[in-house]
Amino acid sequence: MAATELDQVVNLCKRRGFVYPSAEIYGGFRSSYDYGPLGSLMLRNVREAWIRTMVQQRDDVVLIDAAILAPPQVFEASGHLANFSDPLVDCTKCKQRFREDHLVELGGGPDLCPNCGAKGSFTAARAFNLMFKTYAGPVEGSGAEVYMRPETAQGMFVNFTNVQQTSRKKPPFGIAQVGKSFRNEITPGNFIFRTREFEQMELEFFVPPAESAKWYEYWCNARLQWYIDLGIPAEMLTLRPHDADELSHYSSGTSDIEFLYPWGWGELEGVAQRTDYDLTQHSNHSGQKLDYFDQANNERYIPYVIEPAAGVNRAMAAFLLAAYDEDEIDGEQRSILRLHPRLAPYKVAVLPLSKKDTLTPLARKIYASLADRYMVDYDDTQSIGKRYRRQDEVGTPLCVTVDFESLEDGAVTIRDRDTTQQVRVPIESLVGEVGARLGF
Ligand code: GAP
Repeated sequence: MAATELDQVVNLCKRRGFVYPSAEIYGGFRSSYDYGPLGSLMLRNVREAWIRTMVQQRDDVVLIDAAILAPPQVFEASGHLANFSDPLVDCTKCKQRFREDHLVELGGGPDLCPNCGAKGSFTAARAFNLMFKTYAGPVEGSGAEVYMRPETAQGMFVNFTNVQQTSRKKPPFGIAQVGKSFRNEITPGNFIFRTREFEQMELEFFVPPAESAKWYEYWCNARLQWYIDLGIPAEMLTLRPHDADELSHYSSGTSDIEFLYPWGWGELEGVAQRTDYDLTQHSNHSGQKLDYFDQANNERYIPYVIEPAAGVNRAMAAFLLAAYDEDEIDGEQRSILRLHPRLAPYKVAVLPLSKKDTLTPLARKIYASLADRYMVDYDDTQSIGKRYRRQDEVGTPLCVTVDFESLEDGAVTIRDRDTTQQVRVPIESLVGEVGARLGF
């Protein structure tokens, strides 16, 4: 497959109802996006695939859903108030503001403005905190400040004892969460890759300190494999350990799972060793014990944390970019999303050959039997060829065609998205056949 141009995927996303620019009727809201009928289904599939692997298929991880708004004490303890900032510089010529560490990436240089080309025009760098601050209650001002979480992680740390005691889990065990996070990014961009409002899927895996290195390696490999299992070719993924100067304030070692985006390699997910940093900080600041008593060894310790932290939207972008393809069927060009069936917005499309009343009741009945298990599309407009192309373009793995013969022989045609092969299947075994072909 030729390297996918970002524009092709962005256009497809807009045209087919995956992703729209936010507030478009007002000219758009910079670097903010809304997810349409197909995009919202795909986001849900990404979340569910993550929860399935990380929670459902393990007996050592539990799920929580913590609040987005949190009081300043949480972020004072976590270090985000003091440290969660980017270095900002202003060009004194054109008055544009940049992240100092993004100047080269933006086409400038340490001393050259990427906007107006002025040399030596930058102010000294100053720290800009990325957290969104707002006020709780009717009075704005000191004492009423709250922050929108910049990562879901702190919800897991502050609830450590609640969750450990109610779930009766012993380290090694994990707390998982999927939800929105907010960062006042200075240079958002590249479509849904970096936005100010986004969704994270994070696991805080609490381990005895001596097992930390082992679990770090385990999670780096497991998380890389997750993307491969969901259809991203291994050669489009790599694991890159951070240099010491890149590490977050809480990390003693981080590796990024990187993806080959159209603009080059970039972060898809981070796996960090957070040590006992967060539990210690929250314990000291709150005065509450956040530790674990190991009865077998009669010892009390603060667990170390390994954290695989992924983005739902960024993962969706990577899945779409890796799945986008173009090929030729019977001399006709088609665009196709070769999405893993778990991620595809619709698993099946039911296509009655004609809109005639004679076919509709049977087609509707088939639709209802499949829709009981899967997200199914029903399309009876335009030629069958056009309908196949439409489903290929949004990644629907299977089409079920209901024709006039179906009324006679009680069978329908299943068409496969990738091979375009068609087979005739008795209606009574259709649900089972679809399940076997989808693989779940
Ligand atoms: N709790 C650790 C943490 O938040 P991070 O590397 O800052 O680590 C984890 O974020 C993941 O969240 C990233 O790998 C990315 O997938 C996603 N992410 C972070 N900032 C984002 C943004 N501004 N827009 C979209 N996704 C973002």
